[in-house]
Amino acid sequence: MSSKVIIGAQWGDEGKAKIIDIMSEKAEVVVRSQGGNNAGHTVRVGGETYKFHLIPSGILYSGTLCVIGNGVVIDPEGLLEEIQGVQEKGISTDNLKISLRAHLVMPYHKELDGIKEEQRGESSIGTTKKGIGPCYMDKAERSGIRVCDLLNEKVLRAKVQENVQIKNAIIQQVYKKDISFDADEIVQMYLNYAKQLKPYFADTTVLVYEAIQEGKEVLFEGAQGTLLDIDLGSYPYVTSSHPVTGGVCIGAGIGPTMIDECIGVMKGYVTRVGKGPFPTELFDETGDKIRTVGQEFGTTTGRPRRCGWFDAVIGKFAVRTSSLTTIALNKVDVLAGLDKVKICTAYKRGKTLIHDFPASLEELAQCEPVYETLDGWGDISHMSCYEDLPKSVKHYIKRIEELCNVKVSMLGIGPNRNQNIMIK
Ligand code: GDP
Ligand code: IMO
Ligand code: MG
Repeated sequence: MSSKVIIGAQWGDEGKAKIIDIMSEKAEVVVRSQGGNNAGHTVRVGGETYKFHLIPSGILYSGTLCVIGNGVVIDPEGLLEEIQGVQEKGISTDNLKISLRAHLVMPYHKELDGIKEEQRGESSIGTTKKGIGPCYMDKAERSGIRVCDLLNEKVLRAKVQENVQIKNAIIQQVYKKDISFDADEIVQMYLNYAKQLKPYFADTTVLVYEAIQEGKEVLFEGAQGTLLDIDLGSYPYVTSSHPVTGGVCIGAGIGPTMIDECIGVMKGYVTRVGKGPFPTELFDETGDKIRTVGQEFGTTTGRPRRCGWFDAVIGKFAVRTSSLTTIALNKVDVLAGLDKVKICTAYKRGKTLIHDFPASLEELAQCEPVYETLDGWGDISHMSCYEDLPKSVKHYIKRIEELCNVKVSMLGIGPNRNQNIMIK
């Protein structure tokens, strides 16, 4: 048994939840370590579709301990809705545990997320407006409110009062909005949430540590993706947490030597929601076809996802920055029917060839993709083993492995749990 990190290696929505679901069959613990309900994780089992935002996707297996770690930001209102939705589908949440150290998304965070986006105008980031950025801002500024504060009314009241006073001033005086939050109302609301959520509260760092020490199979479910990382991604068009492997250590409260494997999830193409440069973006019929066939519409916001060819510059960057040991390559079935497919092997800026993902957004915006063209393939969604795959798919996988410098261990050929080919 071992501990495995499963992270997004592109701009999110790579199909992480599907991989977690497949691997959860053998796992005893599944841990979320960053992000919040900006994440939208879809699992398809037979005819049923499950959408998770904060609850780890392992919840579908009874007996699997599902942990929301300290690095996650929790909107209690959203979490309670999600718990209710899951329970209504007949799934138990008895094994859900919530970190006492996790920060809480407050009503003013959601409001400020929207106001800030409006104020950015043309240069808006395209956030999910779930209050994620403002919540992580307060955490970094050391004025955040945490899950453990819900257990002490006096502490909670003092912190809410202090925050509300400042947020109201910012909203009214800086942003000139006629909006006012009431501290007592918020305290009452959050005490009510606390009553319902209290059975789930725990020091999750102890649970995760003990599970690993006991040799249990532990999965860390990434949210968002490498290019949305606040340090390593396409800043400022990123989220406010660390979706890379390093973020798992901090967000789950473990050290790096406790991780055995790091699986990077990629699509056979690239998508992104929200704004920001995207070198291989397609604005033509092929892009539309990928969006339609791949049903590339956001799980959380319903927004159409921007689609483009597979980008090995990004792939290599994710492998390097997260020490990826293998790649899970999803949605290769979506490209079926295309006569030719392309892989971006490098960028070109003027006459300069660029092989490493640039730090500067302005530089990235000027990058032109350099493509290699490969033969396409037909329907593969019914196949069950690597040997049966068309030669062109095998060649596509081999080129991705060569360019990203790591093996592909799983191939996604459809959204269902059983539409996945293991590659030795
Ligand atoms: P996540 O945020 O990384 O968990 O990914 P999302 O759930 O937001 O988006 C991935 C979408 O692709 C979901 O609708 C999945 O059901 C679907 N999906 C996952 N893997 C595959 C695959 O191999 N083929 C196809 N066609 N769909 C897939
Ligand atoms: P999963 O886990 C794709 C994007 C938003 C926006 C940027 C900042 O489903 O892969 P935020 O609300 O986080 O401040 O928005 O990040 N974004 C995602 N894009 N998948 C996600 O999660 C995302 N979570 C945030 O669209 O561009
Ligand atoms: Mg998603």
